[in-house]
Amino acid sequence: MHDHVNDHYVKSATNAGYRSRAAYKLLEIDQKFNLFKNVKKAVDLGCAPGSWSQVILQKIAAGSIVVGVDLLEIDPIYGLNFIQGDFTTDEILKQLVNAIGDKVVDLVVSDMAPNLSGIKGVDQARGAHLVELVLEFAKDYLITGGKCVIKVFHGGEFDKLVKQMRTLFNQVIIFKPDASRSKSSETYLLGLDKL
Ligand SMILES: C[S@@+](CC[C@H](N)C(=O)[O-])C[C@H]1O[C@@H](n2cnc3c(N)ncnc32)[C@H](O)[C@@H]1O
Repeated sequence: MHDHVNDHYVKSATNAGYRSRAAYKLLEIDQKFNLFKNVKKAVDLGCAPGSWSQVILQKIAAGSIVVGVDLLEIDPIYGLNFIQGDFTTDEILKQLVNAIGDKVVDLVVSDMAPNLSGIKGVDQARGAHLVELVLEFAKDYLITGGKCVIKVFHGGEFDKLVKQMRTLFNQVIIFKPDASRSKSSETYLLGLDKL
């Protein structure tokens, strides 16, 4: 708790009105890779409490569509079309596709993390499964040339997921933002220029 309160990203997030320090990870990715250029329709998977959605809405043109999904309820965010539920279920996928309106999304971001059981193998498999489903969604609903950002945890399936992502995007970049705590095994996969 002491570390958290003294973390400068936490202080900056509080001052800037972001709901979480996670905002700075996405801002950093944008700064490096121009993530939001030409984005008019975006999907934010695992969006609670909402800081990535806040960043997306700030960075893209007014009137754009942003749809967020999370298991948890969130306080409303102006401009965000929020769906509460489990992204891995057919019912929520259907609601999400409905909210998108058609088959063209310019950007998919996923900061989802599985609920941890404490059993390493189980947690790694759950995390990898979530990433595979995000890739499947990107394959079906991301526009050609579109971009994707996915949180991944290092572990047994990491290389396989990177390989899988390379079949979908012209460029795949493995990126650990400074705002991601060094002791966390999380990293981000960026898919640029969807095939
Ligand atoms: C690290 S948090 C996301 C933080 C968010 N990017 C932000 O900036 O506020 C991860 C979120 O993923 C959500 N999540 C995990 N599995 C999910 C699933 N199957 N469907 C929807 N949301 C999920 C969790 O409920 C949690 O809120």
